[in-house]
Amino acid sequence: MNTNIDSIVIKEDSTIQEAMANLDKSGVRGVFVVGDGKKLFGVITDGDIRRALLSGKDLQTKVGEIMNTNMVTSTRQTPADQILDKMIKNGIQLIPIVDDKNVIVDVVLLQDLKTIPLSNPDITRKEIDLINQVLSTSTLSIGPRIKEFEQKVADYIGVKHAIAVNSGTSGLHLCVRSLGIKDGDEVITTPFSFIASANCVIFERAIPVFVDIDPRTLCIDPEKIEEKITSKTKAILPVHVFGHPCDMEKIMFIAKKHNLAVIEDACEAIGAEYKNKKVGSFGDCAVMAFYPNKQITTAEGGMVLTDNDNIACLCRSMRNQGRSDGGAWLSHTMLGYNYRMSELSAALGVAQIGRIGEILEKRENVARRYSDRLKNMKCVRIPYVSIDTKMSWFVYVIKLDDKLFSREQRDTVIKRLAVEGISCNNYFPAIHMEPFYAKLFSYRENDFPITEKVSGSTIALPFYNNLAGDDIDYVCDNLGKILCSAR
Ligand SMILES: Cc1ncc(COP(=O)(O)O)c(C=O)c1O
Repeated sequence: MNTNIDSIVIKEDSTIQEAMANLDKSGVRGVFVVGDGKKLFGVITDGDIRRALLSGKDLQTKVGEIMNTNMVTSTRQTPADQILDKMIKNGIQLIPIVDDKNVIVDVVLLQDLKTIPLSNPDITRKEIDLINQVLSTSTLSIGPRIKEFEQKVADYIGVKHAIAVNSGTSGLHLCVRSLGIKDGDEVITTPFSFIASANCVIFERAIPVFVDIDPRTLCIDPEKIEEKITSKTKAILPVHVFGHPCDMEKIMFIAKKHNLAVIEDACEAIGAEYKNKKVGSFGDCAVMAFYPNKQITTAEGGMVLTDNDNIACLCRSMRNQGRSDGGAWLSHTMLGYNYRMSELSAALGVAQIGRIGEILEKRENVARRYSDRLKNMKCVRIPYVSIDTKMSWFVYVIKLDDKLFSREQRDTVIKRLAVEGISCNNYFPAIHMEPFYAKLFSYRENDFPITEKVSGSTIALPFYNNLAGDDIDYVCDNLGKILCSAR
């Protein structure tokens, strides 16, 4: 947004000839027509001039006669990605920034617009070739790629069964059902997660019972689990938040002691390790997710993992309308769903899991560069990684010092980063404070103070495999400037 405004504005009583000279000098394809004090009246592009001349107007015609007054404008508060969106939708290459009196204060050119998305999938020729291969067959669902993808993920995690489904949420639902969790049962889980990890319990009319988090790992605090166990508790559902493994030793110990099942929500954590063992291989069952912001993607998709033959059999049947493997197509042995993954998604998954080593390494490098840049930045806390774990970087989430920044100030920082073209997000809002949960379970502020404090101070920065070093620097430089001026 550094273009000199004077070079692209012209007074209403100027002529077409003057407008042409202006366009020629600025090299920009449009000129804004303004009144006194740069109040914006309209715009003319080189195309408008061409059409005016062809329709018989001459070079001395006033620009006010041919200007277009139906303009797309933005304000200083409009995030860069929304400006870019407007440009693409309207097929325009420049947008004036106006104040509340419609005075032009800046201009944004398409060529200057830098936008860094929050996430960006890493799709190579290999993925495209495998998908094209599937498209050249007649088997777009229930075919060989699903089996191949399942086997590859099972081998990678080190479990006996992998059951591909159409989302992480469906996978979690199947786990809850296959463990027989039902009306009134309780499942202990975390309020600091993506909402699906608690919703899947409610799907079966069971109750998610929240336990506050460890402020460093951001995962469920195992020290607080036992006090929430009742005669109705059936399972613990730990979430490996942001790719950081939960303390699985303590969780498995408590589960065994109280005879509880464990469903690992490893949706954000493929490849993460706790004491040299991959997450997803500890509990009775586990779920991975493959939405496009995840470490590996199938566009939409998920995978149930288990060593338990019975759980595997139930999940396979329930994802496919309750059919039994090898049974007649229209014979249904139990209540089921259509949670199947397509062959196209599975092909994408096969290519991605084949590159998992390279993908996780790239993400580790991006995280390292961020940490190097941010570790000495006052008021920023970089992500914590426990000594006995290997993180699988799903997102890069910093915390602002909550003594210096309120939740509202954090939100303002996110908005100001968006204006600079940097997409960030407030991962995660506390689940118990979501209106639906607060109402259903009568939750109040301060019920889970650590979760609330953390969720009011986190910012997920742009994070993906091929995020360039220069872009990381751009994010950190802008973050530093904004934090200095926001306090
Ligand atoms: C922790 C967690 N659980 C569950 C899910 C649900 O996965 P999906 O979006 O594939 O349904 C997600 C997805 O973001 C997640 O982050």
